[in-house]
Amino acid sequence: MTEIKLKEAINQQQSVDARMADVTEIGIDSIAFSTSRYFLSLKTFAEHRNVDYRKYSEGIGQMKMAIFPPNEDIVSMAVDAAQKAISKIDVTEMNALDLLIFATESSFDLSKSAGIYVHHFLNLIPECRVFDIKQACYSATAALKMAESYVRCHKNSKVLVIGSDIVRYPAGTSGEPTQGGAAVAMIVSEKPRIACLEPFSGVHTLDIADFWRPASENEARFDGKLSAHNYLKSLEYCLKKYKAKVGLKENFDNFIDYSCFHAPFCKMAIKAAHQSFPEKDMGLKESLQYNALIGNSCSASLYVGLISLLDNSKKNLEGKRIGMYSYGSGSVAEYFSIQVAKGYKCTLNFENSNNWKMLEERTEISWEEYEKIQRYCQKKENDISYQPRGRISLTQINDGYREYI
Ligand code: CAA
Repeated sequence: MTEIKLKEAINQQQSVDARMADVTEIGIDSIAFSTSRYFLSLKTFAEHRNVDYRKYSEGIGQMKMAIFPPNEDIVSMAVDAAQKAISKIDVTEMNALDLLIFATESSFDLSKSAGIYVHHFLNLIPECRVFDIKQACYSATAALKMAESYVRCHKNSKVLVIGSDIVRYPAGTSGEPTQGGAAVAMIVSEKPRIACLEPFSGVHTLDIADFWRPASENEARFDGKLSAHNYLKSLEYCLKKYKAKVGLKENFDNFIDYSCFHAPFCKMAIKAAHQSFPEKDMGLKESLQYNALIGNSCSASLYVGLISLLDNSKKNLEGKRIGMYSYGSGSVAEYFSIQVAKGYKCTLNFENSNNWKMLEERTEISWEEYEKIQRYCQKKENDISYQPRGRISLTQINDGYREYI
């Protein structure tokens, strides 16, 4: 780089730093995830669908998928994740938690918010507002951005953001090996101890029929190739807008230190990284370790990727900038960035071993068990003999109303 160019780059960087210094630090103060106790190996899946296993391990980059028994749902999983996230907050600060946003595309009730069950089981204060939000896999990002604006207006408030989804595709379709699910819970507040949200983002919205789920059905309809194409096209657009907002004309690869991408399957995120940062190692391997064992978790996927990166990176990420790409079919996409807080490892505290323990201690199910669970879900029947992940599970559906203990 010539001396003039170097000076230009330094000036641009200083102007970016000055703009960020003007903004009060708001972001993720605590983060945790949960997933099913059960999984199906894609080796078993490949054997029974008569497909070369390498198509899954190498072609789409997946090893296992989380399978949800009928008595486990987006609420029971969300309660487990939220309990872990809240355990990092001082009990005396719990009265400040006055907003809960539940992001999901796996909703079972068109009226009552799934978040109200979580509010009940976590014993949150009655003054806490609760509502659900939907836009496919993008919804948790929409919730996070909303939470940020809310905290900016209500300085002492904390917001609980939950992304919880179970992804089911019809048997025999190309989407079937990319099923999965997880719940992520984040506390958003001032002076965040995990990562600060930066004021730049690039957004792209386009009306497109790449993925949808009619209200009466459990399984998604989709056009796999179209969705993958639009994921990458939207990324290109979002990044262009993001760069323009930051105001950096050059040296962008050095501006972003690490990347997390929405991972409907890990290979999609790898393709996204190659398209956007062909020259740089962005810590993608570390960010995809949990997703490869869980499968698609829609709204939770990007944030499971973030936890995986924070947990598994051997480097100290304090002060590092992570580029985050969120894509929700239909479609809305956003590229934004966060900066990792000082001391984030202390807040995560032993999460790494706990998260690995949660994934390693799961029960592998047989093909016959998988087919049995799929039948339950199609018929919308329950079976309470499965062990739930957390402290609650679905006991019955009474006149369409869900009851848990
Ligand atoms: N060994 C190694 N690799 C192999 C292989 C083998 N024996 N056989 C195939 N492959 C490779 C292929 O070359 C291909 O790689 P490239 O994409 O790099 O060319 C890869 O495995 C997949 O093969 P196909 O394209 O033939 O696979 P497919 O058509 O059966 O399924 C898919 C791919 C369409 C994406 C499918 O997984 C799908 O429909 N998924 C659901 C939709 C989805 O996830 N879309 C992603 C974007 S949308 C989004 O992000 C929102 C969301 O969460 C849903």
